[in-house]
Amino acid sequence: MRALDVAPSIHLATAIPGPRTRELAARAQSSVAHPVAPSGETPFIVRGRGALVEDVDGNRLLDFIGGLGCLMVGHAHPAVVDAVAEHSRRFLHTDYAVIPYEEYQTLAELIAGRFGGGRKVAFFNSGAEAVENAVKVARAMTGRPGIVCFEGAFHGRTNLALALTHREDPYKKGFGPFVPEIYRLPYPGFGGATMDGFEKAAAAVFGEHQIAAAIVEPELGEGGYVVPPREFLPRLERIVDDHGSLLIADEIQAGYGRAGAFLASSLSGVTPDLVTLGKPIAAGLPLSAVVGPPELMDPLKFSALGGTYPGNPVALAAGIAVLSVVEEEGLIERATQIGERLTSFWQAVASEHRGLITDIRGLGSMVGVEFADREALGRLRSAALSAGVLTVTAGAEAKVLRHLMPLVMTDDQLDEAFQVFSWAAGTAAGAG
Ligand SMILES: Cc1ncc(COP(=O)(O)O)c(C=O)c1O
Repeated sequence: MRALDVAPSIHLATAIPGPRTRELAARAQSSVAHPVAPSGETPFIVRGRGALVEDVDGNRLLDFIGGLGCLMVGHAHPAVVDAVAEHSRRFLHTDYAVIPYEEYQTLAELIAGRFGGGRKVAFFNSGAEAVENAVKVARAMTGRPGIVCFEGAFHGRTNLALALTHREDPYKKGFGPFVPEIYRLPYPGFGGATMDGFEKAAAAVFGEHQIAAAIVEPELGEGGYVVPPREFLPRLERIVDDHGSLLIADEIQAGYGRAGAFLASSLSGVTPDLVTLGKPIAAGLPLSAVVGPPELMDPLKFSALGGTYPGNPVALAAGIAVLSVVEEEGLIERATQIGERLTSFWQAVASEHRGLITDIRGLGSMVGVEFADREALGRLRSAALSAGVLTVTAGAEAKVLRHLMPLVMTDDQLDEAFQVFSWAAGTAAGAG
């Protein structure tokens, strides 16, 4: 590869994967269950800082995966590390419902403040758990069983969340039966679905069934970074209102700033009844939340929601630090800037290599680049990895490059990644 013009963040000491990664991946095969075992292609990490990771072979790589969207504030942000260290020395766990602590309500107040007030918050561990609890609240508060979800949706891997998730293979295959009363509608923009198709299907489902809520991603995440037409969410909100149902925005991937607004759904002017948050809220420590108005969040009996671990105090301490970093470092505005840079960069690549890229889309930094086929994107990703840039795909066909980089990635680091991607695109197009 040609020499980089910018001060390099990337440093390659070995080929990727290096010998130590290969050794560790081989060792994993005998003790780690195969569905969760590493492939051996992606390096094992020893440390990370900001948008950089260092692997077990002494290589330094730029991270466009960002803990699958958890690391908006980057790896090991000093404010988060200090908060975690300080809290860990005091206590690690009690179960807030049994022995309470202040951090729970501090983060609840901060999050409610970001909604403009009038909201209450319950914390959980994973995104799937937040989704399950939002559905529990919606069913209990409406007294209705039905939940509307969408094609292309990903809501997690527990049984109810899987019932709402769309993709069969590998997520759902063999794991049924799933909970009943789940109705799936077309998501305009996904798989050729149109607003018209959505309207017709919605009229039938809402007309015939007792629907408690519709759960929707403002931009599909795992489903391929699909942005629906602007009128879609307002129309869904209207339909839901007309039928006395609730709107749940699953903002676990798009929320907290990645899409260029604290809530991606606000970009369409809608106000969901319930919002699920997860991924970036505690910089990778397990923490998720359901946010809603008191009339929905308060009536259930004490302990009707909860668990042993939800709202872990160390994760909450991290979460409080994350919100200050998001504000102090202007990460929501940064998401928009990064998104603009990504979009114009990939547009230039698309015009240089005609036929390689078929679509570039996204809200804020949540930019998806769709390639002509899975093989072309595979070639680009392998080349980028060999040159020190870690990437991840989205969509059932794995032909969408999704950007989940930490939003603390600097402009120099972006420039460096662009040089790698330009070269990798040439390789993928057969010109490199
Ligand atoms: C939109 C959305 N909802 C829910 C989930 C599930 O979150 P978790 O993997 O933390 O259970 C994800 C995870 O990717 C997601 O992107």
